[in-house]
Amino acid sequence: MKIILIGASGTLGRAVSAELAARHELVTVGRTSGDFHTDMREIKSLQALFQKTGKADAIVCTAGSVHFGPWAELTQEKVDIGLRDKLMGQVNVVLAGQEFLNDEGSFTLTSGILSEDPIRYGAAASLVNGALESFARAAAIELNRGLRINVVSPTVVEESMTSFGPYFPGYKPVPARDAALAYSKSVEGKQTGQVYKVW
Ligand SMILES: NC(=O)c1ccc[n+]([C@@H]2O[C@H](COP(=O)([O-])OP(=O)(O)OC[C@H]3O[C@@H](n4cnc5c(N)ncnc54)[C@H](OP(=O)(O)O)[C@@H]3O)[C@@H](O)[C@H]2O)c1
Repeated sequence: MKIILIGASGTLGRAVSAELAARHELVTVGRTSGDFHTDMREIKSLQALFQKTGKADAIVCTAGSVHFGPWAELTQEKVDIGLRDKLMGQVNVVLAGQEFLNDEGSFTLTSGILSEDPIRYGAAASLVNGALESFARAAAIELNRGLRINVVSPTVVEESMTSFGPYFPGYKPVPARDAALAYSKSVEGKQTGQVYKVW
């Protein structure tokens, strides 16, 4: 399969790369890293990306920022960071990418444990993760040509514990390579409309 991986240089993206590159042709994408560059907050940037990459059998996204911070300091601007980047960025990937997927191709997006298991400082992230999972369940019943869509929802990964560990007291981290298996299940399997929890 030809697989476009947006966010390939990141902590999760590197593990997904390692898992899928052994069996497939991988096209790596980032904001400033990878074979091709895009800013998924802008749908025009994604359309330009897919024109350059050409058609693929799978589009995987392991990119998207959200704001973490105290509830008392949460503002519309801070919530908007995640809405524009992690949520609309990934929605844009689907909207722009669908015509560039071959029949029965798949999207795999990334949410996270906070959709179901909230933490202090995580309201903006929980909002975005829950919305992504709802979007994917709905898109799965309307996508044409046998296209599929799933979401991987990892807990915090071991490799991110130095930066995110303090936000997740009591959470058991998983190695990024365990999360990568769920991306493989989505891309190489037949399921659609699923949220794969890796925790
Ligand atoms: N790490 C964890 O423990 C964990 C757990 C659960 C969920 N998640 C979620 O998984 C996703 C990836 O996390 P990560 O820790 O792997 O992130 P990361 O290490 O910061 O990597 C982010 C990747 O996404 C790319 N990127 C960022 N914004 C982009 C944009 N607007 N357009 C296109 N590419 C963009 C970056 O490209 P450049 O480097 O070129 O800028 C980089 O390749 C995030 O949405 C995060 O919330 C992470």
